[in-house]
Amino acid sequence: MTSVLVTGGAGFVGSHIVDEYVDAAYDVTVVDNLTDQVHEDEPDYLNDDAEYVWGDVRDRELMTDLLEDADVLNHQAGAVGVGQSMYEIEKYVDVNTLGTARILDIIVDEDVDLEKMVVASSMSIYGEGEYYCPNCETVRHSSLRDDEQMASGEWEHSCSECGHSLEPKPTPESKPRDSTSIYAITKKDQEEMMLSIGRAYDIPTVALRYFNIFGSRQALDNPYTGVCAIFSSRIKNDNPPLVFEDGEQTRDFIHVSDIARANRLAVESDAENVAVNVGSGTPTTINEVAEMLIDLYGKSSELEPEIANDYRQGDIRHCYADPAKAAEELGFEAEVGFEEGMQELVQWGREQEAEDRFEEAHEELEGKGLVGED
Ligand code: UD1
Repeated sequence: MTSVLVTGGAGFVGSHIVDEYVDAAYDVTVVDNLTDQVHEDEPDYLNDDAEYVWGDVRDRELMTDLLEDADVLNHQAGAVGVGQSMYEIEKYVDVNTLGTARILDIIVDEDVDLEKMVVASSMSIYGEGEYYCPNCETVRHSSLRDDEQMASGEWEHSCSECGHSLEPKPTPESKPRDSTSIYAITKKDQEEMMLSIGRAYDIPTVALRYFNIFGSRQALDNPYTGVCAIFSSRIKNDNPPLVFEDGEQTRDFIHVSDIARANRLAVESDAENVAVNVGSGTPTTINEVAEMLIDLYGKSSELEPEIANDYRQGDIRHCYADPAKAAEELGFEAEVGFEEGMQELVQWGREQEAEDRFEEAHEELEGKGLVGED
């Protein structure tokens, strides 16, 4: 039986990956430090057929023992808040970049013999997605909108050459990276370090660039996680979801069960030394997210999305995946549609207590000058 070590396997994404591996008859060990912000105690969804070790991936002795027993390393552990990474810089670099460096030192220096390594990367390493200028008939790469543009409410990108508005296009893996947050920089580091060591030591390695993940077990009262969780807790507490910009910005929402399947395929396919997008390939606007969640929570007669007249510094306007490479390398294609996935999130969310901590988090970011009003 192939044994897989899943770091961060008690978290939102990691726990679904654990379930997927257990169902496919892998021998699964999890190492997780139950980070406070995400989990309070041991979550009740842990899989009885996996083995759990509570500890930190930066603990060299512990990781040496665990890696010596593993055939596959699936590295999901990490510090995950994008906004927070801009004022807890050392922590993010320590956990994500140096944590991965330590694991790789163990792999090359100790008695570790891995068949495969999989690492959680992120679409955040692209910065803005790919765009096309219909007037110049060419692809354009935009950098982040500056404060002046955001403050004027000019949300869309225009062509740097002719000024025509740009159209978003599917983002391929070949798009030059433009990591604009510390979080994104550490994800880029993790991905590159794992691929580099994998190549040098002949360990087939796959980096999965996750797009915007949603689904059950997402920490609803963690205001630093994605928009689906934030809107869910707002709606559950009878508050309107606050939409930044004009709500017509888009993201590629992918259900966590699809992410889990991509992680199994990364182990079972012949893919090696490659980074692939894991997204649905379909853009969805933030207004659509707000409306869908209000509807699914049955609050259409009471609530409607509120345009907050705000924007978040460092936010991109559009990014969605070109899913072709994942199909070719892993045989992966997203299966759960947006509405079906949202139903699963809401069904689970109805049973959760979720404190609405949006205002608190918003004030914290405001205090750091990381949101601005237009
Ligand atoms: C960022 C990260 C991504 C990470 C995700 C969740 C980047 C480019 N990407 O994505 O890696 O997985 O956070 O941590 O850094 N919004 C509202 N109202 C809210 C909250 C958000 O309108 O209350 C809007 C945002 O302004 C944004 C969109 O929803 O336009 C998506 O936000 P979010 O879910 O935080 O994800 P990203 O910014 O795409």
